[in-house]
Amino acid sequence: MSRSRTAILAALALVAGASGTALAVVPGDPGIAAVPCTVDYQVQNQWSTGFTANVTVTNLSAAKTSWSVKWAYAGNQQITNGWNAKISQSGTAVTAANESYNGALANGGSVSFGFQASYSGGNALPTTFTLDGVTCNVDGGTGGPTDPGPTDPGTPSTRVDNPYAGAKVYVNPEWSAKAAAEPGGSRVSGQPTGVWLDRIAAIEGVGDGMGLRDHLDAALAQKGSGEEVVQLVVYDLPGRDCAALASNGELGPTEIGRYKSEFIDPIAAILADSKYASLRIVTTIEIDSLPNLVTNVGSRPTATAACDTMKANGNYVKGVGYALNKLGAIPNVYNYIDAGHHGWLGWDDNFAPSAQLFYEAANAEGATVDDVHGFITNTANYSALKENNFTIGDSVAGKSVRESKWVDWNRYVDELSYAQGFRNQLVTAGFRSAIGMLIDTSRNGWGGSARPAGPGATTSVDTYVDGGRFDRRIHIGNWCNQAGAGLGERPQAAPATGIDAYVWMKPPGESDGSSSAIPNDEGKGFDRMCDPTYTGNPRNGNNPSGALGDAPVSGHWFPAQFQQLMQNAYPPLP
Ligand code: BGC
Repeated sequence: MSRSRTAILAALALVAGASGTALAVVPGDPGIAAVPCTVDYQVQNQWSTGFTANVTVTNLSAAKTSWSVKWAYAGNQQITNGWNAKISQSGTAVTAANESYNGALANGGSVSFGFQASYSGGNALPTTFTLDGVTCNVDGGTGGPTDPGPTDPGTPSTRVDNPYAGAKVYVNPEWSAKAAAEPGGSRVSGQPTGVWLDRIAAIEGVGDGMGLRDHLDAALAQKGSGEEVVQLVVYDLPGRDCAALASNGELGPTEIGRYKSEFIDPIAAILADSKYASLRIVTTIEIDSLPNLVTNVGSRPTATAACDTMKANGNYVKGVGYALNKLGAIPNVYNYIDAGHHGWLGWDDNFAPSAQLFYEAANAEGATVDDVHGFITNTANYSALKENNFTIGDSVAGKSVRESKWVDWNRYVDELSYAQGFRNQLVTAGFRSAIGMLIDTSRNGWGGSARPAGPGATTSVDTYVDGGRFDRRIHIGNWCNQAGAGLGERPQAAPATGIDAYVWMKPPGESDGSSSAIPNDEGKGFDRMCDPTYTGNPRNGNNPSGALGDAPVSGHWFPAQFQQLMQNAYPPLP
């Protein structure tokens, strides 16, 4: 894991150093120098020991009569046979040269070839390609400051590669006012947070609250002459929140028709208004839904009847596909699908199957992968961004960190490594190589007095991990109003390779669920994971919930939680 990541970073650094910063062109953006060529490298099929891939090269400079494409692997991939190119490999370096019949490559022309290869461990995608010695594009580089990111020849859109780059992000006046009214809250009330479209009524505005047009109008006012991102959470699937009760919604499991006509269609109609065409509208699509269909169904000990129902009736997949298709048809909308977090999908049983299910949903109801700009992890969750005191590769007293109780055979120990690793898996599953990731850092700071100052004792792998981990939850499956949590990294663009932004999609201070049953007209249930006296269920290994007491219904303002999040912020607040 860390070996291949180092190799990728090294490759990126090398390219940035060799050719300056203008590595790629964004379609429709005349301000950036053109690349001489693009390469689209797609893994077609993958099994445990091998894969097939297809490579399409587009020549954007003078016409050629012969060509040669080169790349290097970070892992032990070994090409065994190819077609439509003469392919040779020396160590990790691969050269694909034209056959006698396809050497001619016009300006603007493309050529494709394919191959089969073996591998073991990971099948990380190559990051750099050259055509006749000239760097084409850097696949997957949607992040770092020296890397403006790739273009994808298959994307028919004027969207920019990273909507957050060079843009302000909308500050929701309603959240901002609540934050500012809390003692000390003005330190964060200017931060951008997500606007949750969590019920049909939210489109027009609940009660006296702002509706979608009100938010977009306010965003235009904040925009001025610069670029402005607006972050929306699209969250009202039929049978919502099938593995929990705190965020059950208004639509029953079969009400897919209403989801389409009363929720997605009206949202799409507003977003398509030409008045809003200058905004970069980021959507987080339906958190928690598809992951539940992988982990909480069938014979799994964590299965629930409600998730089995949603899997069987297909309405999560259809709803997500419909939303992607309708919203993706609007040129200034950037769809990001929710991708759980490492403490959910980071296990081998869940990782590749989730990417496959996302791909299925992205091809349902008229959607295609071109409707997907990226994915978001850790939405409204608490998983630490980066555990500095141990890595997945460490061993202590003869045992791997993976064997610790906390990690429990997961492949990842934190969100950043998970988001970057899952990004590769998604590309392998068929998503565009230019996808970018968002990470919700609203509540994963884990600062304050309980934050370990260094690694844990090496007595056992458990003392080592438990003594060193920043994430102070009792169990990684705990998700409701966690005691001890703090604000995480402040929202920022392009913080790391493959990451479009750290965002505060969950507005800090809004409850995850009530600590006891509270009647409400939002469809919200009472989930005992929000009750501090609860001793757990199979989804949190039957551990105490770790939740704060006296919490209101999910989405409602929870001052005590907001105070704790500021108190334990990491990086700390001034
Ligand atoms: C709730 C939503 C709320 C959101 C943001 C979710 O848990 O179900 O109603 O808008 O959190 O606070």
